[in-house]
Amino acid sequence: MTSSQALFDQAQQVLPGGVTATARFNKALGHPFYLSRGDGARVFDLDGRPYVDLCTSHGAALLGHNHPAIAAAVMRALELGIICAAETEHQVTLAHKLRAAVPCAEMARFSSSGTETMMHGLRLARAATGREKIIKFEGHFHGYSDFLNFSWAPPLAQAGPAHAPLPYPESAGIPRLAGQTIIIVPFNDPDALEAAFERHGREVAALVMEPINYDSGCIPPQPGFAQRCRELCDHYGALLFFDEVLTAFRMAPGGAQQYLGVTPDLAVLGKAFGGGMPISALVGRREVMMHLKPAGQAEMSGTYLAHLTAVLAASAALDEYGRAGFYERLDALCEHFYGVFRQIIARSGVKVRLQYVGPRFGLYFGLDPDRPVTNYRQAAQQDHGQFLAFVQGCIRRGAYVHTSAHHGFSSAHTEADLDRALEAIEGALQDMKRAV
Ligand SMILES: Cc1ncc(COP(=O)(O)O)c(C=O)c1O
Repeated sequence: MTSSQALFDQAQQVLPGGVTATARFNKALGHPFYLSRGDGARVFDLDGRPYVDLCTSHGAALLGHNHPAIAAAVMRALELGIICAAETEHQVTLAHKLRAAVPCAEMARFSSSGTETMMHGLRLARAATGREKIIKFEGHFHGYSDFLNFSWAPPLAQAGPAHAPLPYPESAGIPRLAGQTIIIVPFNDPDALEAAFERHGREVAALVMEPINYDSGCIPPQPGFAQRCRELCDHYGALLFFDEVLTAFRMAPGGAQQYLGVTPDLAVLGKAFGGGMPISALVGRREVMMHLKPAGQAEMSGTYLAHLTAVLAASAALDEYGRAGFYERLDALCEHFYGVFRQIIARSGVKVRLQYVGPRFGLYFGLDPDRPVTNYRQAAQQDHGQFLAFVQGCIRRGAYVHTSAHHGFSSAHTEADLDRALEAIEGALQDMKRAV
């Protein structure tokens, strides 16, 4: 019995399903990929064996693991007395740093997970507009709160017509009423979006979207589509609400809104924002943000909101993203990694489509390598069995790939680390070809 299997057996006795979060179960392994520690571009399994990390904490570790500036920031918070549930100068400083970096961030509030902050953001959008409905794209993920946990990976048989999908609750226990507040639209389909706005526009508080849909692999908006979203929101008096939990700081200091040149009214910045610590930010236009209590009437509070350990870590992370050459270096790594990756796919003979923006990418096994995937329904045609075989092969060969929709690397990865990962990827694809 492997040590991972032994630990999983123990875990199953005390943790439902043997895990502390659903997404940590690795379907390719039949148990979680257990880590003993992480450092820079590498994670280490229970036996201390190193792997080049292509999961990077589902995108949170954009600076790599154990970054000295993040570790020092957390140490400083500990020295200050582990104070929480209190205002300090550091939350103010962090909000000012965000205002300088992110186009829509005139004001900010902080809470922990992306799920939590999206929940607060949705309430704020409803309070600010006095409307209750939201429009959301199929295949876009916005955390697990009841009003948003719909149609991010619906089984196609239950997803309704492609041009007007049905809201599919992604969990048991979601009140049916929640589904009546959400309108699901296919991504990258301006006609379907216009039709949804025409029908419901005056009841819609917000159009909520991943500006780059990493949660279906990596699907960017088609040229002009994000601008069309902005125009329709303006026309119908709805808020444009970007879920930048994954995109924040990833391809530009101002996130996807800077990259796409479209400024939303509200956004949530998560994952990379905290440099690996649990914090995300609700940011937006002053006029909208001022609806939060005690300035306005919408509630957003909690004992652990803006905990100092995470606030100081985020502040340090922003300083790293602001360093001269940070994104130029990431871009150079991207050019190298994806260039070689594409060559490897071409010579492997395995049918797989690679899509990427910045240091995060999606893979679609069984789909045409040359045909862009532009929405969830296309992404859902991929061969999951082949993907699981790929994940197994990569892990066997020393690259950690998780069974999630998106993968990526960090600023701690060097070209040599990426070459090592590419070797594992090529080996995994060769294994798959041989198995066929
Ligand atoms: C786009 C997006 N929104 C929201 C979330 C939820 O964030 P968290 O996992 O921090 O609750 C995620 C997390 O995977 C995400 O990718």
